[in-house]
Amino acid sequence: MPIKPHGNQLVNREPTGKEREKLLRRAQSLTSIYISKWTISDLELIGIGGFSPLTGFMGKDDYNQVLQHVRLSDGTIWSIPITLPITKEVAGNLSIGETVALKGADDVIYGTITISEMYTYDKEREAKQIYGTTDLAHPGVHQLFNRGDVYIAGSITLLNRPDHHPFQDYYQDPKQTRTTFEALGWETIVGFQTRNPVHRAHEYIQKCALEVVDGLLLNPLVGETKSDDIPAHVRMESYEVLLNDYYPKDRVQLVIYPAAMRYAGPREAVLHAIVRKNYGCTHFIVGRDHAGVGDYYGTYEAQQFLAEFEAELNMTIMKFEHAFYCVKCESMGTTKTCPHDKKHHVHLSGTKVRELLRNGEKPPKQFSRPEVVEVLMNGMR
Ligand code: ADX
Repeated sequence: MPIKPHGNQLVNREPTGKEREKLLRRAQSLTSIYISKWTISDLELIGIGGFSPLTGFMGKDDYNQVLQHVRLSDGTIWSIPITLPITKEVAGNLSIGETVALKGADDVIYGTITISEMYTYDKEREAKQIYGTTDLAHPGVHQLFNRGDVYIAGSITLLNRPDHHPFQDYYQDPKQTRTTFEALGWETIVGFQTRNPVHRAHEYIQKCALEVVDGLLLNPLVGETKSDDIPAHVRMESYEVLLNDYYPKDRVQLVIYPAAMRYAGPREAVLHAIVRKNYGCTHFIVGRDHAGVGDYYGTYEAQQFLAEFEAELNMTIMKFEHAFYCVKCESMGTTKTCPHDKKHHVHLSGTKVRELLRNGEKPPKQFSRPEVVEVLMNGMR
């Protein structure tokens, strides 16, 4: 039996065929508001069921519960507010009960929302509760303080999925991944979230996991990331190269995760697990400083926080210690498997790798496979 989606039902807010055409025609005569790329990705994930059981953007009750108790108002675990921010000026022209079209900067109508509520919110409170800091240097907090002051809530309809070029071949929605896993006969599937180019520690923990489950859903996030992260197309290429030569083809599915990155550490780890469950994963990998940035979260804080919800989520969280290459062992390991002193360990932070690449220097081969380094060097030129 495949794992049940979060809340037991895979949400589908995406009409097709004639119904979609009719709604799209109707949407053209509705009041429209412009939404950011971030919000478009949230809209898509609600529409395709990645954010099941959400059927729309959150109202105040759910929002408050999520902030205070990491749950929706009906008690379902949920860790990150999924909200639609607009300015006070735009809100002034809208009314409760109205259905409005949601447009991107490209004037495409991505969907509609039927407004059930509009409410102001306290940005400092949200920052503290979700990110654990109000520091504007934190990219998630920065984004929060730069958005409109009003949230509009209500159920949505997804009328156009955003264009995922050049990753179209790696797109599967949760319904499709579930079908794929079934066709492959996989019963246990581990999800892997990443926003970075692949390095040996990633490969090591993925392969350790693959020793015990049927398959791996390699699920790199390709939505908005902070500007100094490595661009998604370079990261995807690094995965293609690695999968080609170093992974058994029948045990991995490379599928993009079209969400925006929040950098919310522990809170985001819970969201990441929930979404992968909706995609059909029974297991989820959480290593060091998952979804972290700078020094805002402790190395294993995300693991500890997610562990509180593990049983209720009915998933197995595969928690990995900080992995490194040990020159003495001549292999990857962690302090659980390697007895040697730190001075023998090769580990580079993401910041250090980006710095090396920007200066045209190669990260050492103990850190990243030469084929991957090649892709990164070319990508950064
Ligand atoms: S994240 O923001 O998407 O979490 P990243 O792509 O670096 O960042 O990490 C992907 C996953 O690999 C996360 O679960 C992270 O904890 C884990 N990870 C990254 N580097 C290491 C490492 N050296 N040792 C153990 N786990 C790691």
